Amino acid sequence: MTTIAADNAITVQNLLAAFEGESNAHAKYTAFAVKADADGLSGAASLFRAAARAEQIHAANHARVIKQMGGEAKCEIHAVETGTTLENLKAALEGEQYEVAVMYPGFLAEAKEHNNTAAMRTFTGAMEAEKTHARLYGEAIALLVGGKKDTWIAATRDFYVCPVCGYTSETEEEHERCPVCNCPWEKFEIVR
Ligand SMILES: [Fe+2]
Ligand SMILES: [Fe+2]
Repeated sequence: MTTIAADNAITVQNLLAAFEGESNAHAKYTAFAVKADADGLSGAASLFRAAARAEQIHAANHARVIKQMGGEAKCEIHAVETGTTLENLKAALEGEQYEVAVMYPGFLAEAKEHNNTAAMRTFTGAMEAEKTHARLYGEAIALLVGGKKDTWIAATRDFYVCPVCGYTSETEEEHERCPVCNCPWEKFEIVR
């Protein structure tokens, strides 16, 4: 039986909240992908699957640090409410924006205060990856709202996901290494 040092109690609480958020985002995006395929928006479905994979990587990274700090990584997975694909994209974008602007910066500041470097690393990796998701969801929304259904949102396509930090890219020619965590590009997972 391990225990959590008093000094680390809040950091572990935050890690658990992030673990729950990422685990539920994975479930949500997986369901949204099914709906997008059914709506004939298979490129958006590919994006949901790539982001879902990234959230799974974030959850696993957070879980590892929770364990290192003496905690137990468990959470509840909620039932997913699916709307139209446009509504789902908007809900996904909102979630990513909250994580980027509010949740991770707050968690990061707290971890920094207590010099919890492992927590800082996993929070930073996730926060930077979520920025790529927010950008790609934003693009998909703009195309859908603009009536441009004949663009990448319509057809199944490849996305590239960093297996270490979850950084997500739509092109394979962008980098030699992950711009967030320096993982070599050839290790990236192709999700479609
Ligand atoms: Fe994300
Ligand atoms: Fe990375």
